[in-house]
Amino acid sequence: MSTKIKTDVLIIGAGPSGLLLSQLLYQEGISSIIVERTSKTRVLSRIRAGVLERGTIEALNEADCDARLQKERIDHDGVILGFDGDGFEIPIKALTGHKVTVYGQTEITKDLIDACERRDQEIHWDCPDGQIERVDGDSALFRFSDAAGVKTIIESKFIAGCDGFHGVSRAAIAQSKPFERVYPFGWLGVLVDQPPVAHNVIYANHTDGFALASMRSETRARYYVQTAPDETLDDWPIERFWETYVRRMGSLADGLITGDPIEMSIAPLRSFVSEPMSYARLFLAGDAAHIVPPTGAKGLNLAIADTRRLAHALASFWQGNETPLNSYSKEALDRVWKVERFSWYLTRLMHQFPEDSAFEKKMQRAEFDYIRSSEAAQTMIAENYVGLNF
Ligand code: APR
Ligand code: PHB
Repeated sequence: MSTKIKTDVLIIGAGPSGLLLSQLLYQEGISSIIVERTSKTRVLSRIRAGVLERGTIEALNEADCDARLQKERIDHDGVILGFDGDGFEIPIKALTGHKVTVYGQTEITKDLIDACERRDQEIHWDCPDGQIERVDGDSALFRFSDAAGVKTIIESKFIAGCDGFHGVSRAAIAQSKPFERVYPFGWLGVLVDQPPVAHNVIYANHTDGFALASMRSETRARYYVQTAPDETLDDWPIERFWETYVRRMGSLADGLITGDPIEMSIAPLRSFVSEPMSYARLFLAGDAAHIVPPTGAKGLNLAIADTRRLAHALASFWQGNETPLNSYSKEALDRVWKVERFSWYLTRLMHQFPEDSAFEKKMQRAEFDYIRSSEAAQTMIAENYVGLNF
């Protein structure tokens, strides 16, 4: 026996996309239910990137979920690119009129969950077996059971697939076409309670591999190094991490304060897009439809841009205008591909690719030297880094 409940929009996944969507729909008087595979504790423990575009800040402000962000944000006017230990700053604010903001994705997720709880948003945590049953016809149907085995079926006007790369919703789009590039390396990230080595984010390429300096606050730093694709944390005792980090950063790591990490994790790098992003009553947003490599920190920003677009399209539908919903996939993908291009470009520029010939290595160095000497090239990077127009 299953209990049957109804809502306007069933949202699969309580990541940033699903949580923000429920909040934006609530503001428009549209009801939603969120079903999440895992626990709230698990969702809140995921450490992800932390550089926000102005469009993301605007979306969180519109959603009225930015009170803590406005207090704790760290704004950056520039970003540093390094090559073989030597770097230069791209003055993003001077070139575009905009800044980027450091504020961790984990904190955004917490702020969004708090907002959901304040308004008694229905969220079903710990529902491991959710399945889409129907997305066409008069209504959509989604079936799941909770941790206690209680079965529920939800009938809704629409389903929002906000269930990330490993979710179930993408597979419900029968004619979907995947586009993918898996990179021959991973990133090892270290979170440490020490003041960050620099005020700006630093992306550094070195013959030995990529390294990145970032932060979460004035007292918490986030550092990364490129790893071989098959390496695990067992291959990376912290001493090896710091020694590698200092070698790759060169003078860019002057003043670095090392320490015991409070978190260490390795993630593979991939570019992925699934087209289209909608079918019948199902609409995908965020990582369910696309993945970017973390170079440039676009993953969360892209997810928030999709979500904002989808919320607007659904609100228009309820106001009697179906056009934005019908063009959602096409318009979202236009922007997705541009952001995929930038993330791929920066990944290509800043990493060591094992398959590169001596010629390609020279090309990479020439590209870096060209950017350093050209305001036009720096402006291209800056306008993508601060976020393309919505
Ligand atoms: N049923 C319910 N929930 C599911 C299911 C399912 N079958 N499958 C996956 N989920 C949940 C996951 O447990 C996760 O909490 O969907 C959520 C998806 O969240 P994210 O992966 O964070 O994706 P999204 O909300 O689109 O946010 C994108 O997160 O992955 C990063 O770099 C990415 O910053 C970007 C952002
Ligand atoms: C981070 O702060 O974790 C971070 C910053 C920039 C990136 C990726 C990750 O490109």
